[in-house]
Amino acid sequence: MSASMQPLNAAMYAVVFLLFSRIELILGYDENTRTCPSPCTCFGDLLDCSRLKRRGIPENLPEWTVQFKQRQSQTLSLHTTCDKQPLCLCVYRKLNNNEFETVPDLGPHAANITTLILANNRITKISLEQLRPLQRLETLDLSNNSIVDIKADSFPALPLKNLIMNNNRISTLETGCFVNLSSTLQVLRLNRNRLSTIPAKIFQLPNLQHLELNRNRVRRVEGLTFHGLHALRSLKIQRNGISRLMDGAFWGLSNMEVLQLDYNNLTEVSKGWLYGLLTLQQLHLGHNAIMTLFSSFSCSPSLSFPSHFLSYSHCELPTPLSFSLSLSSFVGLSLLDELHIGNNRVSFIADGAFRGLSHLQMLDLQNNEISWTIEDMNGPFSALDKLRKLFLQGNQIRSVTKKSFSGLDTLEHLDLSNNAIMSVQGNAFVQMKKVEELHLNTSSLLCDCQLKWFPLWVAEQAFLPYVNASCAHPLMLKGKSVFTVRQEDFVCDDFPKPQITVQPETQSAIKSANVTFVCSAASSSDSPMTFAWKKDNEVLNDAEIHNQAHLRAQGGGQGRETEVTEYTTTLQLRSVEFTSEGKYQCVISNHFGSSYSTKAKLTVNSKLNNLLVLILMFVLNWCCR
Ligand SMILES: *[C@@H]1O[C@H](CO)[C@@H](O)[C@H](O)[C@H]1NC(C)=O
Ligand SMILES: *[C@@H]1O[C@H](CO)[C@@H](O)[C@H](O)[C@H]1NC(C)=O
Ligand SMILES: *[C@@H]1O[C@H](CO)[C@@H](O)[C@H](O)[C@H]1NC(C)=O
Ligand SMILES: *[C@@H]1O[C@H](CO)[C@@H](O)[C@H](O)[C@H]1NC(C)=O
Ligand SMILES: *[C@@H]1O[C@H](CO)[C@@H](O)[C@H](O)[C@H]1NC(C)=O
Ligand SMILES: *[C@@H]1O[C@H](CO)[C@@H](O)[C@H](O)[C@H]1NC(C)=O
Ligand SMILES: *[C@@H]1O[C@H](CO)[C@@H](O)[C@H](O)[C@H]1NC(C)=O
Repeated sequence: MSASMQPLNAAMYAVVFLLFSRIELILGYDENTRTCPSPCTCFGDLLDCSRLKRRGIPENLPEWTVQFKQRQSQTLSLHTTCDKQPLCLCVYRKLNNNEFETVPDLGPHAANITTLILANNRITKISLEQLRPLQRLETLDLSNNSIVDIKADSFPALPLKNLIMNNNRISTLETGCFVNLSSTLQVLRLNRNRLSTIPAKIFQLPNLQHLELNRNRVRRVEGLTFHGLHALRSLKIQRNGISRLMDGAFWGLSNMEVLQLDYNNLTEVSKGWLYGLLTLQQLHLGHNAIMTLFSSFSCSPSLSFPSHFLSYSHCELPTPLSFSLSLSSFVGLSLLDELHIGNNRVSFIADGAFRGLSHLQMLDLQNNEISWTIEDMNGPFSALDKLRKLFLQGNQIRSVTKKSFSGLDTLEHLDLSNNAIMSVQGNAFVQMKKVEELHLNTSSLLCDCQLKWFPLWVAEQAFLPYVNASCAHPLMLKGKSVFTVRQEDFVCDDFPKPQITVQPETQSAIKSANVTFVCSAASSSDSPMTFAWKKDNEVLNDAEIHNQAHLRAQGGGQGRETEVTEYTTTLQLRSVEFTSEGKYQCVISNHFGSSYSTKAKLTVNSKLNNLLVLILMFVLNWCCR
């Protein structure tokens, strides 16, 4: 049988045979004796003849050819593509050697080939004629070629299941180009191409399960783009620079489980584009520019209406969406089990933003800006009652309070590392009975009496391997690991973190009036203070604010008199409008942390309104007496 090696030897081919038992019989290659036909080399089940040289396709490939590989030095990677195929022909070109400009004519063998790998060639177009002989083709890899478009009439009716066209120059997909593959295609990879638009309904592929469009140039995804992909389970569109996903962008993907949108330019998570993804299990939105996890209706920012009165008039939402009146971004994604929004600019998580994610097990919010959510909000994650992993690294979180993690009863893994945490309120983690790993590293701890519990608790819970925490204050303990500080050294001699002493007051005003909100805080430290005002949780950047400091004597206990500095900040609102209505809050920070005031509500009435109310009261009073 080694005679069948002759044509190969004579011609200077690079041929690699993958020796399956069935093929060995035909070959007569005895696995026990392991004779290796010269001049090839054998290792394991691989026969490597890649030292032979010859361009092009051998004219009479022997029937038993499993893999043909031209002048590649490594062969092992072929296992992944050709392994276990009944017949597989892999045609490669030498990396810097431009072999094929079209799909080559494979002669009589074409009809039996199930896998054809033509990666790394110079193919510029594919045509019906070239592909027609490949009647049993199931996998076609055309990666790393120079194909510029996929025309209609490119594919004959083939039993093709996997079509891989990564790293070409494809910029257009003609309408109907995949029509002949519609009953068979399961995997379509078009990564690293030049697609800038995806025509709506181009993918009429009811059997497609995986679609990859990473590293293209799609900036905007229109509604109904993926209509026709009922069986799709994963869609990857990373690194495209997408900035807009129109409402209904993923409508029709009724079996989708994984959606990867990382490394784009998205700024919001909206119900509008999530619409219809009823079976989604993983949503990846890392490395975008997402700023708020608010309702999809953030286009109506003055949420002074009760939610069932939300008006969409200026939101340009299509009518099919208006029946959904929830404030929650993720309602409808009740099967989602992972949500990755790390490395964005999320700075605001609205109350109830996670409502509806009743199956969520993993939430990645690392490297965002949600410090104030953790510090001030009441149970931002409380709706996530199945959550097992929460990643909050790198969020500039400075204090952890009891309400930060309330409701997370099932949490097993919490990562708070890379936050300069200063204070951890006693029993902040007490609810989380199942936590096995708590990661925390900080050298900013305020080691006063309120932190006394912390080292004991960490040791008791066996979290020591995950916690690296040292004190920044008081001076005496600076730089010391919190685990080496003696219990009696955790004392409260001072209060360097600001403490709110005067809260802003709720008020109502008549339209056009001037309104002020006042807020004060005291601190024993002379570390510089910064002041901010928020309206409806968003920082007011251009507001008129006046700040003042004054010294105040205070009884320091044990008969001691200490001097503390008190700071007052005043927010001046001139000539208020109805849009000025909302909840106002001051945030006073220094090196040791931030204090958040209560939220004071402003209501604005029109003069006419007041008059009407008076008249009404008068009339009622008069008639109903
Ligand atoms: C194709 O496969 C069939 C059996 O599966 C075989 O009879 C035939 O000879 C093969 N043709 C070529 C050209 O290899
Ligand atoms: C295509 O080329 C890239 C490098 O440019 C390489 O990493 C990749 O493996 C190639 N793909 C195939 C299928 O050969
Ligand atoms: C589909 O395939 C048939 C023959 O296989 C061919 O004649 C026809 O042009 C193809 N249609 C498209 C839209 O590619
Ligand atoms: C994202 O958007 C910003 C502002 O619109 C733009 O400057 C930037 O180039 C965009 N990035 C990408 C990758 O498209
Ligand atoms: C915490 O860990 C991260 C990464 O592991 C590191 O970059 C950072 O400097 C550490 N911070 C402190 C205060 O140790
Ligand atoms: C703890 O953090 C300090 C300062 O960030 C660092 O120097 C030290 O190596 C860390 N220790 C461990 C065990 O990681
Ligand atoms: C509001 O303040 C402006 C500027 O100080 C002042 O001119 C105006 O009279 C004030 N309006 C009222 C109603 O007090």
